[in-house]
Amino acid sequence: MTEDADSLRKVPFFEDLTPDDLERIARIGERRSFGAGDTIIAKDTEGQALFVLLSGRATVQAGGKTHELGPGSFVGEMALLGRRPRSADVAAVEPTECLVFEAMYFKPFLVKNPSVAVALLEGVVERLREVQERVS
Ligand code: CMP
Repeated sequence: MTEDADSLRKVPFFEDLTPDDLERIARIGERRSFGAGDTIIAKDTEGQALFVLLSGRATVQAGGKTHELGPGSFVGEMALLGRRPRSADVAAVEPTECLVFEAMYFKPFLVKNPSVAVALLEGVVERLREVQERVS
């Protein structure tokens, strides 16, 4: 198994994938490294890629709150699925490595791998619930 596929095996999001599917998803992802303080996603910019954190730590500034992200978490799903500009700033707080999946490759993969689509949905619902609890 390649290094990227092996890293993805440890991401809960991809845990139901077969070794072949892990190789396939690793091939469509591009590894990117960010230094402490680097912007990963800038609010209001265009872009439809999904970022999966392989290592490091990042923060999301959204709705007046700072959300912490660690290895295995993802960001960028809103622009990926909603075709709108980025909704928040995301920055690395320490050296952080991501696999970046462009929508044009990742969406067809989601259609073929419903377990990943469901895991993405579960993450989105968790975020929605946190926002809902904050406003009510
Ligand atoms: P996107 O809008 O593509 O880019 C910014 C990302 O920040 C967004 O996708 C989500 O992944 C993330 N994000 C936005 N709002 C929240 C929130 N309230 N809680 C956690 N993550 C968020």
